[in-house]
Amino acid sequence: MTARVYRKTMKIGLCGFGVVGQGVWKHLNQRRRELDKRLGVSLEIARIAVRDPAKERKLPLPRKLVTTDPFSIAVDPEIPIVCELMGGTDVAREITLTALRAGKIVVTANKALLSEFGPEIFEAARTGGGHILFEASVGGGIPIIKALREGLVANRFRLIYGILNGTCNYILTRMENEDLNYTDVLADAKRLGYAEADESLDVDGWDSAHKASILAFLAHGTWVRLEDIGVDGIRRISPSDFAFARSFGLRIKLLSVIARNFESNDLSVSVRPMLLPERLVLANVNEVYNGICVAGDVVGTTLYIGRGAGQDATASAVIGDLADAALVLLGGKSPLLPDDAPSIVSGEEDRLRITLPENQESRFYLRLTVKDASGVLARVSASMASNRVSIASVLQSESDLPDCASLILTTHRTNEKAIQDTANDLKAMSVVVEDPVLLQIAEFED
Ligand code: NAP
Ligand code: HSE
Repeated sequence: MTARVYRKTMKIGLCGFGVVGQGVWKHLNQRRRELDKRLGVSLEIARIAVRDPAKERKLPLPRKLVTTDPFSIAVDPEIPIVCELMGGTDVAREITLTALRAGKIVVTANKALLSEFGPEIFEAARTGGGHILFEASVGGGIPIIKALREGLVANRFRLIYGILNGTCNYILTRMENEDLNYTDVLADAKRLGYAEADESLDVDGWDSAHKASILAFLAHGTWVRLEDIGVDGIRRISPSDFAFARSFGLRIKLLSVIARNFESNDLSVSVRPMLLPERLVLANVNEVYNGICVAGDVVGTTLYIGRGAGQDATASAVIGDLADAALVLLGGKSPLLPDDAPSIVSGEEDRLRITLPENQESRFYLRLTVKDASGVLARVSASMASNRVSIASVLQSESDLPDCASLILTTHRTNEKAIQDTANDLKAMSVVVEDPVLLQIAEFED
């Protein structure tokens, strides 16, 4: 049987041949026949940009396609689809804007770029007649962008929360199961291709914040600036926190929370390690997996779980976008997007207000390393009382530091600002020898 020859070939310029770029190359080539058949058009990687062609790679670079100039791809009239998989926000931004202004379709996995320059990029797409597709930017292989953009378009979203960083979930899972420190596990996350080139983006919570701002844009039509997101990472979590959490029937997860109050028209976005009751599905989403819970007012709660990082999962999302790009070029529908006119205004009641979640009430877990001396517990509880924080339980155990003890306290429901003030007061006390570790005990239902 002779292979069917497709009338049209759509050329793709691949900017980046690292973890994700190589995955796209590999899987696109493996699935070429099926994809061509389904799309009725042939997707062809016509050029590949890298920084250093001599670099050793797992997959050999197809030499005749290589350039070190990604701009030559962005401006090439023969290449309608530019796949930006370089990372960073300097050259990647220029390439993306150049391609969009030339009316091209840009497929990107770059959440930092979208989060920091979203308004400029979407404006360039609108004015230049291009399109931006970004399924791989959030949730790895989970099609969460498509779900929010298309499948759930009938809904308003009171709450979206979840595990958005595969590296941190991998680290937390192995720390919990194998009693390891986070630095021991981080090296493995890097080797497996999960971590960002700058791993602090992962472990300090910024990668999750980038992704949360993209989800907030899709759900609420506004770009929340990074400085308006309460961000905390996982560096301070120690093996002892897992042991204590377990004794309370809780698990530690780095959670991103996007909460909208439709009465007051407030929107808050936060990223921080939280304690989750172990009966919840998300508490059992482990390793590199992400889990996202979306509460829509029409559909109810929907939950999405899948690999959140790594070559194959990410390539799956990118190739999905490449297929959509081909369909757009064939005259199909362009991607649905919210009206993203800037609407971040304080004090205007009819406009969406971005707030920090400090007025919310919750229970908290507080771990203190204190001098093991008489009267210390009394001083700690006096500080909590003066901030009107009510203690639910106290546990004292040995500390690794000489002449010190660990104090683990849980609180009754309390205002977030009150517990933050308490933590700051405690931090200033001479008997408290390390910065307190403060974790919210989540009260989600699903
Ligand atoms: P990576 O392994 O570091 O690969 C980056 C690639 O871009 C390399 O091939 C590099 O060339 C090339 N590159 C960088 N700057 C360039 C420049 N100025 N000109 C030409 N080429 C340049 O990164 P990655 O893990 O594939 O991630 C790529 C993007 O996907 C990032 O935005 C990341 O946040 C996102 N992402 C990654 C994952 C994941 O699991 N890894 C998942 C979702 C999204 P050389 O090879 O010559 O250095
Ligand atoms: N470094 C990111 C993570 C890659 O670990 O989730 C996927 O976006």
